[in-house]
Amino acid sequence: MKILILNGPNLNLVGSRQTDIYGSENFDTFLQKIKKRYPEIDFDYHQSNIEGELIDHLHATRGKYDGVVLNAGAYTHTSVAIADAVAAIDVPVVEVHISNVYRREDFRQISFIAPVARGTISGFGLQSYLLAIESFSME
Ligand code: DQA
Repeated sequence: MKILILNGPNLNLVGSRQTDIYGSENFDTFLQKIKKRYPEIDFDYHQSNIEGELIDHLHATRGKYDGVVLNAGAYTHTSVAIADAVAAIDVPVVEVHISNVYRREDFRQISFIAPVARGTISGFGLQSYLLAIESFSME
């Protein structure tokens, strides 16, 4: 099984950014743990602060991946273009958020990704990514 973990803007700063909300674990450290935990899964990981690059990464998954774990960061709440890319590809996408966006500001409660995603996992810290991976590995 091949899974792409795709992180959007500012998620490169997880571990040092607003640690009360996003925790103090660095994403690269967490990624190493994930790889150890699921040795049978082939993971790729990309992070970009640029909307078009995230779209290019989504397009590139076609025919190559079994699933995408997508945290589009703030683009979740603004990007029709990323939602269109998710809808355009034949690969299932699970939307994840580290924080519980439904307990935060009103603008974070709108997701353009949710209607085109297979499902959404929000509010479990970095464990949200693990739960998304589990959803694919149980298939
Ligand atoms: C986030 C939630 C978004 O609202 C925010 O803009 C982020 C991170 C999360 O993982 O909780 O950058 O996607």
